[in-house]
Amino acid sequence: MQQRATRRAALATLRRAYARAPLAVRLHVLGRFLSCPMLPVLERLPGRGRLLDLGAGHGAFALLAVASEAVDSAVALEPDHRKLLACASVREPRLRFVAGYTDAVRGRLAAASVIDVLYRLPIDGWDAFLTAARDALEPGGLLLLKEIDPTHRLKAAWNRLQERGADLLGLTLGDAFSYEAPPEMTRRLSRLGFAEVEIVELGGWYPHAHVLYVARNK
Ligand SMILES: C[S@@+](CC[C@H](N)C(=O)[O-])C[C@H]1O[C@@H](n2cnc3c(N)ncnc32)[C@H](O)[C@@H]1O
Repeated sequence: MQQRATRRAALATLRRAYARAPLAVRLHVLGRFLSCPMLPVLERLPGRGRLLDLGAGHGAFALLAVASEAVDSAVALEPDHRKLLACASVREPRLRFVAGYTDAVRGRLAAASVIDVLYRLPIDGWDAFLTAARDALEPGGLLLLKEIDPTHRLKAAWNRLQERGADLLGLTLGDAFSYEAPPEMTRRLSRLGFAEVEIVELGGWYPHAHVLYVARNK
C-alpha cells in the first residue's frame, strides 16, 4: 500500500515538473519511470547532501531525489544538449541541469548515481568514468550504479531487441552496448577503491534484469 502511494506521489511529481515540456519528453520520462526501478534506488540515498546524477537524461531521477528529500540538492549532468534543452521548462530550485561529461565533475558529494549509462560506453572507458564518480564523492560517499545483468538470457535477448530500436531512432548518445556480469562488476568496483560493494537485484517482474550496485568511497 505504502509502495503504491509512493509510486503515485512520484508520478504526480513528474507530471507536475514536466507539464510544460514537449509531449515526446513527457512520454519518455513516463516510460523511463515505468520501465526502470527508480524508487528502490531513491530509497538508498542518504537523506542529506548533494547528489550528482551522471548521464541524467531528462533528469527524472535527480528530480525525484530532491522532491522526496532523499538529498538536499542535485546536479543532473548530461552530455546530450537535446535532452537538456527539452527540459528548459523544468523548474526546481534544488536541481541544476549541467551539460557535460565526467570531466565536468567537481566537488565533494554525498552521493553519485549512474543509471543505465555505463552500457552506452565501451568497457575500456568504464574505469575512467567510475573513477571520476569516486573522486567527486566525500569519504564514505555513496555510489548507486544501476545496470542490466547480462547473465539472464531471456531478458538479455529482449534488451538487445530494444537497443536496436533505440539506435535506429537515435534516442540515446553513446558508442556501445556493453554489459558485465555482477561478480566482475563487483571486482571492478573494489579494484577502483570502492568499499562495501553490494549487489541488489531489482529485476523482479520487469522485462529487464535490473541490477543495482551500492558502494562507498573509502
Ligand atoms: C539510457 S539513458 C539514461 C538516462 C537517465 N540516467 C535515466 O535513467 O533516465 C543514457 C544516458 O547516458 C548519457 N550518456 C551517454 N554517454 C555518456 C557519457 N560518456 N557520459 C555521461 N553520460 C553519457 C546519454 O546521453 C543518455 O542520456
